[in-house]
Amino acid sequence: PFDAKVDSLMDIMTLQEKIGQTIMYSGGWSVTGPTVSSNNKKFIKEGNIGAMLNVYSVKGTRDLQKMAVEETRLGIPLLFGYDVIHGFRTIFPINLGLAASWDLEDIEKGSRIAAEEASAEGIHWTFAPMVDIGRDPRWGRISEGAGEDVYLGSEIAKAYVKGFQGDDLSKHNTILACAKHFVGYGAAQAGRDYHTVNMGDDELRNVYLPPFKATVNAGVETFMTAFNELNGVPATGNKFIFRDILRNEWGFNGFVVTDYTAINELVEHGFAKDEKHATKLAIDAGIDMDMMSSANRLYLEELVNEGQVNIALINDACRRILLAKYKLGLFDDPYRYCDEQREKEVIYKPEFLEAARQSAAMSSVLLKNDDKALPLDKNQTIALIGPLVKDKENIIGNWAAAGDRKGKAISVYQGIQEYLDDSKIKYAKGCDIEGDDESAFKKAIRVAKRADKVVMVLGEDYDMSGEAASRTNIGLPGRQTDLIRAIRKAVPNKKIIVVLMNGRPLDLSEEDTLADAILETWFPGSSGGYGVADVLFGTYNPSGKLPVTFPRTLGQVPIYYNMKNTGRPIPPENPKEDYKSNYIDIPNTPLYPFGHGLSYTTFEYSDIELSTNKIGFTDTLTASVKIKNTGDYDGYEVVQLYIHDKVGSITRPIKELKGFEKIFLKKGESKEVRFSLTAEDLKFYNNKEFTVEQGEFEISIKGTSDFNFEQTFILE
Ligand code: IFM
Repeated sequence: PFDAKVDSLMDIMTLQEKIGQTIMYSGGWSVTGPTVSSNNKKFIKEGNIGAMLNVYSVKGTRDLQKMAVEETRLGIPLLFGYDVIHGFRTIFPINLGLAASWDLEDIEKGSRIAAEEASAEGIHWTFAPMVDIGRDPRWGRISEGAGEDVYLGSEIAKAYVKGFQGDDLSKHNTILACAKHFVGYGAAQAGRDYHTVNMGDDELRNVYLPPFKATVNAGVETFMTAFNELNGVPATGNKFIFRDILRNEWGFNGFVVTDYTAINELVEHGFAKDEKHATKLAIDAGIDMDMMSSANRLYLEELVNEGQVNIALINDACRRILLAKYKLGLFDDPYRYCDEQREKEVIYKPEFLEAARQSAAMSSVLLKNDDKALPLDKNQTIALIGPLVKDKENIIGNWAAAGDRKGKAISVYQGIQEYLDDSKIKYAKGCDIEGDDESAFKKAIRVAKRADKVVMVLGEDYDMSGEAASRTNIGLPGRQTDLIRAIRKAVPNKKIIVVLMNGRPLDLSEEDTLADAILETWFPGSSGGYGVADVLFGTYNPSGKLPVTFPRTLGQVPIYYNMKNTGRPIPPENPKEDYKSNYIDIPNTPLYPFGHGLSYTTFEYSDIELSTNKIGFTDTLTASVKIKNTGDYDGYEVVQLYIHDKVGSITRPIKELKGFEKIFLKKGESKEVRFSLTAEDLKFYNNKEFTVEQGEFEISIKGTSDFNFEQTFILE
């Protein structure tokens, strides 16, 4: 409906004004609020900026919007973008943690809340969701995605887009979403950020692209380029991915923004001879908006005048950006996101903090729980030990938008105080997250001796994951493992429960032998301490399942559940057999597999029943299974459907997740869960198209990816 309006506006725009729409610069932040450089203010007034990032608050955005609307020739409103990744003010668990809930409704609700808060502070656009598949725990940004799996990742990607954009972009509480980083960013060599990516069609089409396609299907309005090169061509200059795939194959109509200075970086990549050349390569590749590089501002007009860039490309880019502004309703009222009253009412609403508490509980994954070490008993004395017990700075994680690392974060200590009288809590820090100091071990040991059980809250610093935070050692940093060892030695018969906060899968092989229970809470967010305490005391029975494999050691990386079989798989009856695809020092299996997560209760799965064991290309197969809660607690279970396509024109993974459902069962209760499969679900990409091939498939429904298939069906 806005096309005609955009056309008539563009009719009166100069080339320079059109280019201006394709330019974004960043504001800064000082104690008194947002800051914008005098240069950027000048550019805004000249109509040379179409969007700003990192400026928020009603006052900050209104002042700049006023400049754009009242002081430029055409009065085109600015677009305000920001990294609203897992919450805006109210911070939810980091995205890898949210993925561990496998709860699409909760993820959508969390991003809806983030959009409510961000839009109330003038933000129109989030640079989220990050839908990069992450299979390398060294990579710091694995924390920001949904883990290793293409199906789970695609479902979660859609939930984020729905949450941020809602069903009507013209409402003042919805914001544009941005699928990033297109494409392959998570596959950087050796897990080093921004590093080289080489991958063939199989991996690109069957693993890395589908979550992006899912966002397009969900109506995502914008895309962001990746910093990496893909098969020799940096993403920001890559026509194949932006023009051929995104625009032509998928029909994406929104606009594409660079990741920060990615246009300049085409020079360092060795792909452009200078920044002017880089500017041409980027617009030719289909990039619409330049975040921060200044390339479009400095070179685009000249390139058009010299006949090196077709003006139609600039018209396209400008049109798409203006269209987004129309959809948001900014031409009707440029200040519609600038309402002080709403800002006051919406930020940190109690129900938002409560939702964050629930998400924290739902995201927690019980990795191990020997001898019912958890839940804790309110009548017992607990030793709370570790550098993250009282922490409020790290608990909200990296990429925490406008989250408050002090006043509005709830520590695990505070959460536990809701359950235990102070006289029952014995606290010692024990050590720092990093560093060599063991001098506080003694006090920790004393405290452990005086308690019935020991809860140790350990992990990474929040900035050890996220952008440019890759690690070559994925163990617990500093002396934390030594601290567990020292406590275990001092109280050999007491239960030790390790509560972890971290932004990546860690190597927990030794911790697994030392602790009775391990609860992975990621960085659980603003209300994290409450949510974690709810799990520790059994108010919430843990239901999280790993969205990513935890290796036994870094040497196994990359390791993920749906690997290929190889021509020499390990024979189960003789895992050490020579000349098989194995290691001579450790098993191939991970420490904790994808899909793993314990509960305080137990679930019994009956055999899967298939509606038929032969289907045609247009038929539907129904697979059902009965699940019974056989333990002592009510609880949620994430029921997972896996298949294995036994023979393909290109080899297929040994397991593929094809469906899941989160169910609630009271103790003693049973439920039947049904999944439908059609040929469409069995498709994969080969020879330039998605195809489905006849043959035999294995199928199973379980509560983890760690199982052997027992049943088959045939597609004929
Ligand atoms: O959105 C981010 C991106 O993911 C990494 N580089 C900076 C951008 C803007 O902050």
